Amino acid sequence: MLFQLSEEQLMIQQAARDFAQHELKPGVIERDEHQKFPAEQVKKLGELGFLGMMVSEKFGGSGLDAVSYVLVMEELSKVDASASVVVSVNNSLVCYGLEAYGSEFQKEKYLKPLASGQQIGAFCLSEPEAGSDATSQQTTAEDKGDYYLLNGTKNWITNGSNASTYLVIAQTHPDLKHKGINAFIVEKGMEGFTIGPKENKMGIRGSDTHSLMFNDVKVPKENRIGEDGFGFKFAMKTLEGGRIGIAAQALGIAAGAYELALAYAKQRKSFGKPIAEHQVIAFKLADMATSIEAARMLVYKAAWLKDQGLPYTLAGSMAKLYASKVAMDVTVEAVQVHGGYGFVKEYHVERLMRDAKITQIYEGTSEIQQMVISREILR
Ligand code: CAA
Ligand code: FAD
Repeated sequence: MLFQLSEEQLMIQQAARDFAQHELKPGVIERDEHQKFPAEQVKKLGELGFLGMMVSEKFGGSGLDAVSYVLVMEELSKVDASASVVVSVNNSLVCYGLEAYGSEFQKEKYLKPLASGQQIGAFCLSEPEAGSDATSQQTTAEDKGDYYLLNGTKNWITNGSNASTYLVIAQTHPDLKHKGINAFIVEKGMEGFTIGPKENKMGIRGSDTHSLMFNDVKVPKENRIGEDGFGFKFAMKTLEGGRIGIAAQALGIAAGAYELALAYAKQRKSFGKPIAEHQVIAFKLADMATSIEAARMLVYKAAWLKDQGLPYTLAGSMAKLYASKVAMDVTVEAVQVHGGYGFVKEYHVERLMRDAKITQIYEGTSEIQQMVISREILR
């Protein structure tokens, strides 16, 4: 058992750390305040190869492993979870889904610009009445011969207005329930496709979350992913990897808050000594460091299993369930360690606390992860 990163992984981790400090940190408070999408930063992330990290070079990706991917997610999320969710969705939901299950035509036309960072993508499963209960899709895709007619509404779509390519899940054969669901590639600008207003959120405010409306959108048949009826399995398989990315995001948010709390506790004085020398604060830091390390082990292991071609459903859900709880617990404590200063924006920890919450909700709530884990262990 090796607990050591390779030279290449360390280099990638350092590159992400530098990027987070130099490109994401300046302006992160303003972007959060004004709900501004990190467009310039995302462009640079694409140039660095961080938007198609695990895609093979043949399709414009960086050909790296999942461990490198979680290292990047962790480092970016320490500073800006609104930017890191773009990286997560593009890599592990959109690019992975297309590379693993798309046709050659789809990979040439859609995957290449997404993996090379010229475009970004969105993954559209959730609906107003179908969140956790994802099989109850109301969006319909009627088979019209050489095209499908898409009708319905998707909710909460990350990269909603900045994406060019949307992977949309819809029901084609309602009588077949989940076995009748398909996944489609929809382009921005297709007639009948409109984007709703941006959601005003508690956290990850720089990320653009929108509802999407499809009104008689004609989707060419060659844009269906996989065999007829493969859409639900497509969504589930893709989300298995996505959950590792969000687990790494949660880990990064926790680690970022911890690093700030540690530095602050060493310099802030009360009763004649740094607050880190009061045992209650020192023990808080000890608990934070321990839980973060445990989360890190779960996240890295899930990524490693994926790299080995071993099953990772259970490990990915465990990593997401645990790391997202650690993100909440640690960020709350990081605000506490900062006292009143933790409650204002300049010190970053209040934003990390607000950002942490989403990791317990998207890509399957914590209760859904418990459902997946319990089904796996009881099987
Ligand atoms: N891999 C392959 N197939 C799977 C699977 C997996 N991991 N999980 C389920 N399936 C298959 C089952 O085998 C079954 O197919 P068969 O009948 O052919 O065997 C079918 O899917 C239905 O499975 P279940 O009976 O288990 O379905 P369920 O209704 O009980 O729901 C669920 C399962 C795990 C709860 C699922 O609905 C789920 O994951 N819900 C959460 C949805 C979610 O994560 N949404 C995230 C949206 S994307 C997002 O959030 C992005 C972002 O924020 C950035
Ligand atoms: P519900 O499913 O209504 O759940 C409400 C509560 O009930 C939760 O606590 C849930 O855990 C619990 N619950 C539900 N069923 C059960 C059960 N069987 N047992 C126990 N508890 C249960 N979706 C996308 O498709 N693409 C995206 O890009 C995307 N980005 C998002 C970005 C943001 C900022 C947000 C807020 C959401 C995003 N989502 C996206 C949607 C997200 O995946 C859903 O919000 C999530 O899956 C939960 O669905 P819901 O909101 O409908 O809650």
